[in-house]
Amino acid sequence: MRAIYLGLMSGTSQDGVDVAAVQFGEHSANLLATHSHPLDAALRDRLNDLVGGSPASLATVGELDLRLGELFADAALALIAANPGLRSDILAVGSHGHTAWHQPPTTGQSGFTMQLGDPNIIAARTGFTTVADFRRMDMAFGGQGAPLVPAFHQWLWATPGQTRVIANLGGIANVTILHAEGTVTGFDTGPGNTLLDNWTQRHRHQAFDAGGSWARSGIQNAGLLRQLMKDPYLTLAPPKSTGREYFNLDRCVGEVGAIPPADVAHTLLEFTVRSLGDAVRAHAADAKEIILVGGGSHNDFLRQRLSDYTSLPITSSEPSSGLPADWVEAAAFAWLARTRLAGSGGNVPSVTGARQTAPLGGVYCPN
Ligand SMILES: Nc1ncnc2c1ncn2[C@@H]1O[C@H](COP(=O)(O)OP(=O)(O)O)[C@@H](O)[C@H]1O
Ligand SMILES: [Mg+2]
Repeated sequence: MRAIYLGLMSGTSQDGVDVAAVQFGEHSANLLATHSHPLDAALRDRLNDLVGGSPASLATVGELDLRLGELFADAALALIAANPGLRSDILAVGSHGHTAWHQPPTTGQSGFTMQLGDPNIIAARTGFTTVADFRRMDMAFGGQGAPLVPAFHQWLWATPGQTRVIANLGGIANVTILHAEGTVTGFDTGPGNTLLDNWTQRHRHQAFDAGGSWARSGIQNAGLLRQLMKDPYLTLAPPKSTGREYFNLDRCVGEVGAIPPADVAHTLLEFTVRSLGDAVRAHAADAKEIILVGGGSHNDFLRQRLSDYTSLPITSSEPSSGLPADWVEAAAFAWLARTRLAGSGGNVPSVTGARQTAPLGGVYCPN
């Protein structure tokens, strides 16, 4: 029997649910099947309202928790329907959930983070043990609860004597730095795709700027870029994490007056490039390349600008890990489920700032 884990991920981009079926070897991951499950527009609007800070009743939050639980179960079942041979070898599901709110701890103040998508429903409907709610144990130990993927990156990519940088461009951007001597740094660097996505939705009525071609057609606006780069988050020392609650158009851009929309798009892309590039320069001066993952890795203009800005080659994840860029994060949650069931710690205290390493996630058994 193979030992297969399913990872379910719904990120801040709200572009759908990623499902990955993964078999793990000794520091290797074999991606057996994938499925992208759509998020319908009505549900997306309701989630946008939540993360936008609109007042929500407890009934609304509870109903979204239920609907997302059903959606995650459907997503897992759709992968199995297309790959029935996997079912009998699946040991567990790791579900990240959908972040309704992420409020990291700040100096002297505790934080909280809330992921929706009831894991009881996933377990009951799929029949698989489900591990979920990965972030809160780390926070309970004083950590940011994020990012959690660096533990997986370390397990998969760490190479003694070599500094490696993995940058994940989801809605928010996060970086993992595997230092040559074995230590790990990781944090959210700022916006990934979220500002450019939302700007493109507003002005072009498309979900995202494919290939970055619209941004490329504009001219960088120096004044707006200067204003964006003044954001105090960028100079905060890690550990740090953030979300769309903070990096959104209302707060970051506001009224842009007469700046042409394509110039704003170019400038927002540049904001992502510089905030990420500066983080890499500051924390991984000896890096030889950036392994770029997440949906933003398909943005050709962004790749080019990041390479120019950092003077580093941008490489794909597949040659060094076997995992294509779009599936690393879902695979990470499959791995975190496996790690939890093995009773091992899933967080990296040097990344999240937690007082200790701890098993992450609750375990929901259907039988
Ligand atoms: N062809 C493409 N060109 C430019 N951007 C893309 C392309 N494909 C995907 N993206 C970006 O990737 C995002 C989704 O990335 P993803 O890694 O799923 O993020 P999240 O984890 O936040 O859901 C989209 O919202 C979009 O910004
Ligand atoms: Mg996504």
